[in-house]
Amino acid sequence: MTTFWSWYITLLSLGSLAALLWLVFATRRGESAGGADKTMGHSFDGIEEYDNPLPKWWFMLFVGTIVFAAGYLLLYPGLGNWKGVLPGYQDGWTQTKQWQREVDNADKLYGPIFAKLAATPIETLARDEQALKIGGRLFATYCSVCHGSDAKGALGFPNLTDSNWRWGGEPETIKTSILHGRIAAMPAWGSIIGESGVKNVAAYVHTSLAGLSLPADSDADLEAGAQTYSSTCQACHGAEGKGMQPMGAPDLTHSAGWIYGSSLVQLQQTIRHGRNGQMPAQEQYLGNDKVHVLAAYVLSLSQQQPASLATK
Ligand code: HEC
Ligand code: HEC
Repeated sequence: MTTFWSWYITLLSLGSLAALLWLVFATRRGESAGGADKTMGHSFDGIEEYDNPLPKWWFMLFVGTIVFAAGYLLLYPGLGNWKGVLPGYQDGWTQTKQWQREVDNADKLYGPIFAKLAATPIETLARDEQALKIGGRLFATYCSVCHGSDAKGALGFPNLTDSNWRWGGEPETIKTSILHGRIAAMPAWGSIIGESGVKNVAAYVHTSLAGLSLPADSDADLEAGAQTYSSTCQACHGAEGKGMQPMGAPDLTHSAGWIYGSSLVQLQQTIRHGRNGQMPAQEQYLGNDKVHVLAAYVLSLSQQQPASLATK
């Protein structure tokens, strides 16, 4: 802020405070010193108005707010370039510094708990009630916006409670997905294989790979679709359509795990324009330890009836 505007704001604010202070005291005059109550001298339908001063407690409230304002403006940055002298904040208070302080305090308090959890293998944590409770709360805060509060996903966001994994369901793979995020790249094929190509290969995926039934009036050429599949799609989705987890190419034989819909129209849309699902990396927000607990929580969701639990 330039010096001019800084002084403009400062003088205007302090001037207003001074004016209010004056107003409060100026209108206080006329307080009757215990004498008989005076009236304003007018009367409406026999009702008269007393000319009494403000009650003392009310007057003190006014004065109190002004004193509060003065103290606040001294401690916090409210007057132009004045940075405030709140103790504990070098070079003035800011929201960011206060936030950072609270985060630091929380880290100091909970850091050791998370560090202890992070030293435990994910599989073990996935059976630890306390860890799962913490994981569940973290999930509700950071993940449910996209994956849903029940983690069952939505259009465009994968279900994390089933065994259909796009990138892999191994404990460490799940952790990697969360820690570093994932960017899926399904190319757009519309301009390459043409509209009839899209129609044929969509029908092939729909019925020959996923086992869904085509509408009776479908005129798609499944033979041609199969050919397009092996020349264009196989490299990523595999010869049998089982997908390829290292690149996040989903299994095309299990429509239950698809996130962009399984109707013919949605399939064509996906193939025509491509898809780029993105799982945002959490490392810089949550850090390794919290992600470790989250990975255990996600793992536990997908193995609601874990064999290891039954045998223990
Ligand atoms: C370069 C690798 C690659 C090729 C080639 C490729 N895909 Fe994909 N495909 C992917 C990836 C990665 C995804 C996941 C996209 C996402 O999650 O956003 C995907 C997603 C899909 C989906 C969506 C599944 C869902 O979850 O809804 C369908 C359907 C699909 N591909 C069909 C095809 C067909 C048909 C072809 C051939 C015309 C093809 N793909 C070629 C990598 C590829
Ligand atoms: C902004 C939305 C968004 C948020 C927030 C989000 N995710 Fe995701 N996540 C996605 C998308 C989209 C994918 C699928 C990426 C793809 O197309 O392959 C995904 C994929 C995943 C996967 C891989 C699933 C698989 O099948 O391999 C895991 C695990 C996961 N997310 C866990 C989490 C956790 C835990 C959190 C909370 C820290 C979280 N996600 C927050 C959007 C989100």
